[in-house]
This record gives sequence, C-alpha cells and structure tokens, in this order.
Amino acid sequence: MRILSGITSSGEPHIGNYFGAMRQHVALQTRGQAIYFIADYHSMTVVRDAADRRRLVHEVALDYLALGLDPQRSILYRQSDVPEVCELMWLLTSVTPMGLLERSHAYKDKTSQGLPLDHGLFAYPVLMAADILLYNANLVPVGQDQKQHLEMTRDIALRFNHLYGREVFSLPEPHILEEVAVVPGVDGRKMSKSYGNTIRMFWSEAELKKAVMGVVTDSTPLEAPKDTKSALFQLWALFASEAEREALFARAAAGGLGYGDVKKDLLRRLLAYFGPARERRAELAKRPGDVEDVLAAGASRAREIGAPVLAAARDAAGLGRGAA
Ligand code: TRP
Repeated sequence: MRILSGITSSGEPHIGNYFGAMRQHVALQTRGQAIYFIADYHSMTVVRDAADRRRLVHEVALDYLALGLDPQRSILYRQSDVPEVCELMWLLTSVTPMGLLERSHAYKDKTSQGLPLDHGLFAYPVLMAADILLYNANLVPVGQDQKQHLEMTRDIALRFNHLYGREVFSLPEPHILEEVAVVPGVDGRKMSKSYGNTIRMFWSEAELKKAVMGVVTDSTPLEAPKDTKSALFQLWALFASEAEREALFARAAAGGLGYGDVKKDLLRRLLAYFGPARERRAELAKRPGDVEDVLAAGASRAREIGAPVLAAARDAAGLGRGAA
C-alpha cells in the first residue's frame, strides 16, 4: 500500500499540527510505503518571502525526523525537488472544470472574506491532485478540512482516464484523521498559526513556560468548581491517560483545584511527552547537511516512483514523441 500526504510549510509546526496530523503520519509508516513531502510549492500562496520558505522546509523536516519519521523506511522529500509534479498539474488542468474549482471551500472562504486572490490559490487543488496522482497513492491521510480536495482529486483522475481512454491514474482513498478533540490555543480559540495562539513542541523551556502560564483562565475563585471544557483542561488532557483525566476533572468539578497547579503540571507533562523528540531534534539540528541528504534521497526515490506514471500520462495525452 502506498500512503501519501503533504504538509504545507506555511509555519512552524505546533501541538495542534502534531495531534491533528503529524502523530498519525508517523504511526502510519508501518502500514505500507509512506511518502511524505513538504509542500513548498503550496506554501507559495501564503509565504511570500524566499528565505522564509527555505527555512520553513528545513524546520518542518527537522520536526518530522525528530518526531519519529524514519527515513530508512519512509520517503520524505521537498515538493519542489520533484518538479515533475508541476508538469503533471498542467496535464490535469485541462480536464478540471472551472466549476469544480469554484466550489472549493478554501477558495470560497477567501472570496467571501474579500481577500485578494491569485491564480495559485484557485489552482491549488489541481496541484494537490498532481501530488497524489503522480504516485498513484492509495491512501491519503488528511484532516477533515482536506476531504473536498481529495474528492476533487478523484474527480480529476476519472476525467483524465475517461477522456484519454486509459486507466492512467488510480483513485486514492481518503483516510480522514479522526478529530482529536480540537486542540485549543492559549487564547481558547482553535490553535492556529493565523491566530498567533500556538504552542510549539520545540520551543525552549522558557518559551514553553511563558506560553503555558499564559493560557487563558477565568476568575473563578479557587474553591469553586472549574469548567473542564476550558482551554487549560483540554490542553492538559492531551498529555494524560483516560484515568488521569477522569481523576483531575473530578477534582476540578469538586472545587479547590487552582489553575496555577494545573498549568505547572501541564508544562511538566508537555516537556516529558516531547522530551525524547526534543533531544533528537537538538542533535539533528547540529548537522543541517544530514537533513538535506534525507530530503535529497527522498526526492530521488519519489522521482523513480513518479516517472513512469508521468510518462504514462504524457503518452495517453499524446504529448512528446511517444513510444515507437
Ligand atoms: N493541502 C494540504 C494541507 O494544507 C497539504 C497537501 C498538499 C497535501 N498536497 C497534498 C495533502 C497531497 C495530501 C496530499 O494540509
């Protein structure tokens, strides 16, 4: 089985990304050939600074490797190291109806917010389809927000196969990652880079302490029962077992539990949970060349898998000289 997913390098990964996708990506490595790439072409619709783009790819790669992505087993590459994806995208654009792209939630969201739009944003789903179809990936683990993009990919693949009368592309199955109770940010809204309310697993201890101590709480007096749906308790629960959670939530309901103590314990748990990954990352960061080597090796393995598929698509469409 070929498992594929992309991670847009539009920011430094935070614990919302970890519980929402990265953890599952790492776990899926044993289920088949995993192919993960850092989507720097996709980042172009958001990140406008060249140095930032390059730096972010490196950070995301370090994070994945530190969190347990095994480069012996899985393929990790930088999307722009496989430029064939852009060629395939062009082949797909001419079987992609405008109406399909106009129905995209992401596009409609931006339109309704009155944001300036560029063609890259409009065409984003076609590039994503090319990412997936280039490898004939079977399983694509993504969050709920990407479900529509996967449906579009299937639609585009069917249209291409139908138009040129060949089964060039196989249809990928979406593997929707179950929603771990939405990870709240320090301000209580959903954790998101765009809200500036994130906690990054690889911050220094001092930065982590500052973030955790800054998690919003209300002015409920110490003796009174606490609302365990609040950000602080929900964050804490990410690092606790079921039994521990029940015990702490019962104490919160009974009153007498102070927010400060919960924060201290959250910090302790966070550091313990990510401790091994933090150490690995510190080691890896000392040898940036090694990370580049992993990405380069990943790209060449990816190109080997993708080349015959692209060749078949070109041939089916009558591009190039063709087989004799
Ligand atoms: N659009 C995806 C996201 O924002 C990232 C992505 C790009 C992707 N290409 C992909 C995911 C191909 C799965 C498959 O999360």
